[in-house]
Amino acid sequence: MARVLSGIQPSGEVHLGNYLGALRRWAGEQHEHDSFYCVVDLHAVTTPQDPVTLRTRTLETVATLAAVGIDPEVSTLFVQSHVHEHAELCWLLECTTSMGELRRMTQFKDKAARSTSGTDAVAAALFTYPVLQAADILVYDAERIPVGEDQKQHIELTRDVAQRFNHRYGEVFVLPEAVIPRAAARVLDLQNPMAKMSKSVDSPQGTVGLMEDPKAIERKFKRAVTDSGEEVVYDPTAKPGVSNLLSILGAATGQEPAAAAAGLARYSDLKAAAAEAVVELVRPVQERYAALMADRGELERVLGRGAEKAQSVAAVTLARAREAMGFLPRPPTSRRGG
Ligand SMILES: Nc1ncnc2c1ncn2[C@@H]1O[C@H](COP(=O)(O)OP(=O)(O)O)[C@@H](O)[C@H]1O
Ligand SMILES: [Mg+2]
Repeated sequence: MARVLSGIQPSGEVHLGNYLGALRRWAGEQHEHDSFYCVVDLHAVTTPQDPVTLRTRTLETVATLAAVGIDPEVSTLFVQSHVHEHAELCWLLECTTSMGELRRMTQFKDKAARSTSGTDAVAAALFTYPVLQAADILVYDAERIPVGEDQKQHIELTRDVAQRFNHRYGEVFVLPEAVIPRAAARVLDLQNPMAKMSKSVDSPQGTVGLMEDPKAIERKFKRAVTDSGEEVVYDPTAKPGVSNLLSILGAATGQEPAAAAAGLARYSDLKAAAAEAVVELVRPVQERYAALMADRGELERVLGRGAEKAQSVAAVTLARAREAMGFLPRPPTSRRGG
């Protein structure tokens, strides 16, 4: 069975883009693979997080993963910071990654540009974050990385870094591959169809939360930005707003976006149809989420088991990397002095 790994940040509320672009797939394919799914809290802190909120959101994100159908008896479900090997391998890999490579990462450029205090004021970790992501993947010898389109560049960097490390020190790492869905690989912001829907965006009006109230979801679709003209057609270049709504509708109902336009005469019909489909899609997820959040003890037990299982794999890979790089093994502690 191929090893699969993917992660989600607890930096905000899980949204429709996360679900359609990634989470739905994680749950759907878990039986076919040896799957590792984590809540990447170390990534979240690359931008400032309130400690209390971070703690709450981390647990909520775990419950969300379980609610979308990730079964902790089938998949390894865990929190990234519970397995310290990620951070340690990150350091080793940073020594195999160049500044120039990191400077080319478009996510860094976007996030740094959004910082109100200027590019120089962003955390150094925001710059090196793709290396931590490489460590997340390589530490599990993961082969398949199911992600949205926005992560493609980071997975390519992971391959480059792994290849360079292997070339320099011997075959230590498995080269991973990004697995990007055909439908809804890039869900766009409902208020700005030039940008991807994101957790960490200033205006929440364009982001549809997976756990949001149905009435609020309907309102957001009603107010979605559309394009000039009147015809409901799938044309991402000429009609990005309309096409985004068609992709969402199609992904929610299992149709191609162009086919989802059938029978929709006006933009208002499209908005109503998309809202209804999304409300139906998230309803069962929301019900399971409520039940899961009611038993915090069980969530914590799941995370304890997940961390143990993840660490048993990660420790072996890290030891291999340390040895290949030439670190002196730590001598066993002697019981008696002298
Ligand atoms: N707008 C989107 N459309 C499709 N997939 C997305 C979108 N935003 C994020 N994803 C996917 O969701 C997963 C979790 O990403 P994460 O970075 O936690 O979300 P965000 O970028 O919103 O903070 C990744 O696989 C990512 O590719
Ligand atoms: Mg992201």
